[in-house]
Amino acid sequence: MNTEMPKTFFITTAIDYTNSPPHVGHAYEKVLADVMARYRRLKGEKVFFLTGVDQHGQKVQQSAAKAGIPPAEFVKDITQKFIELWKKLDVTYDEWAETTSDRHKKVVQGILQRLFDAGQIYKDKQAGYYSIRQEQFLTDKERGPEGEFGPEWGQIEFREEENYYFKLSDHKKWLLDYLEKRHDAVIPDFRQTELGNAVEKLSSDLCISRPKSRLDWGIELPFDKDFVNYVWFDALTNYISFAGYDPSQSDIRHQPSNFLDKWPALQIIGKDILVPAHGIYWLIMLHAIGFPDEQMPQLLVHGWWNLGGAKMSKSAGNIIDPFVLIDKYGSDALRYYLMIGIAPGQDADFSEEHLIQFYNRDLANNLGNLLARTLTMIRKYRQGRVHWPSPNFPPPYKCLGWGNYIKMMNEFAIHQCIYAALSAATPLNQYIEEHKPWALVNDSNENNRLEAVLYYAADSLRISAILLSPILPKAAHGIFDQLNWKMDLTGKSERFRKPVPLFPRIQL
Ligand code: MSP
Repeated sequence: MNTEMPKTFFITTAIDYTNSPPHVGHAYEKVLADVMARYRRLKGEKVFFLTGVDQHGQKVQQSAAKAGIPPAEFVKDITQKFIELWKKLDVTYDEWAETTSDRHKKVVQGILQRLFDAGQIYKDKQAGYYSIRQEQFLTDKERGPEGEFGPEWGQIEFREEENYYFKLSDHKKWLLDYLEKRHDAVIPDFRQTELGNAVEKLSSDLCISRPKSRLDWGIELPFDKDFVNYVWFDALTNYISFAGYDPSQSDIRHQPSNFLDKWPALQIIGKDILVPAHGIYWLIMLHAIGFPDEQMPQLLVHGWWNLGGAKMSKSAGNIIDPFVLIDKYGSDALRYYLMIGIAPGQDADFSEEHLIQFYNRDLANNLGNLLARTLTMIRKYRQGRVHWPSPNFPPPYKCLGWGNYIKMMNEFAIHQCIYAALSAATPLNQYIEEHKPWALVNDSNENNRLEAVLYYAADSLRISAILLSPILPKAAHGIFDQLNWKMDLTGKSERFRKPVPLFPRIQL
């Protein structure tokens, strides 16, 4: 690999289960990743943004059975819903991961075979209480205060079953050392602490199979055709299988250059899948297949959107459908709320009323008004043209508050980035009030000042729109169009357009 080459910024999200259609929680994570990806592209970096769907497993097999169609057909439908949603929400991923694809299957089987050959996977017999309804072995964790298994588990029987296990606990010490050495392995800090505590308690190995008699919707184990993989070796491996990883090379230096060029990734996940899936299984899997410590991905853990303090779930029937919101308010309005209504790492309560309030306050009233006002004056007083002003009239940019933007973006505090980008609107409105273009236009000695005020107002809007473009791609381009400015061109030779409302007020 040519080490002089700038690295590609590689960003992933969790892949979404296809046992039920997407809700706003799924949308949040993808928009967050999309904002980061667009920001990096804006800075001129090469970006590889990977997302996709998790199509195997028991939940899907059950949902398909309930719907009375084969799992392959069932996941196709739901996968299509996800693809449609990302398109509607302007989520610009570079590669799409589907875990039923052949490409993925080869990598999963290659890795499993390599670990099996290295003695990292063994067969063992498990005996214990088994819930037929939930199709899983129950442990003491599932027992209630009286030692009983609750009614949610349905009928319970004693079972013996052979399965394959991965020697997870062999790597416990390595993981503890790694987390000790690398303080930003997980962001935010309190999540790294939570992970560290969970690793301390790690004592058992990881069951990685299900007999086909019980589950056949999965990837067959390459060393035993009576079993399929279950389930994390399948799901987690997507992050490398769709990035060009070659499973036959255990020495990372021999991986294809298009893989090395992007790895390691920044991985965005929800708080529910840090422990144990990503923080324990995934990091240990990577370590076991030959990834050195400096090639471990960084995990960015976000909180959850809830509804009235309760978890959103299909079974609870309190899902918020993102398609409905997009049809009602537009994709930018939803993106805006998802980004501004939650702080990094924290949970938030979803409220359609808040979506409308944020939108009206920041976009319709603040930014939208400034844009309409500025364009109207430029058309009225300058026939739609303004020029770079004379040096006697310095720009007001210093007081416009954009300074925090990059710092906040690096801290993934998107809501703060938005405030930084919008922070220009209030002082700009004041700037216009102070200079009173409507008065300047009547004084021929003030020609240059008028030109300068209008020029800087338009140019500040342009800069705010650039900063907002990762969050509001449609609206930002709407602003560029009205300013007759193209992101990849400098200078503006054409006339400003007639203002058209970009953010029509939403009536409550
Ligand atoms: N398929 C697994 C992940 C495998 S990754 C190798 C999964 N799927 S999921 O559909 O349940 O969730 C996908 C992502 O969406 C997760 O990161 C999860 O945290 C996130 N969210 C699901 N519901 C959410 C909210 N209500 N709010 C915010 N994020 C949510 O887990």
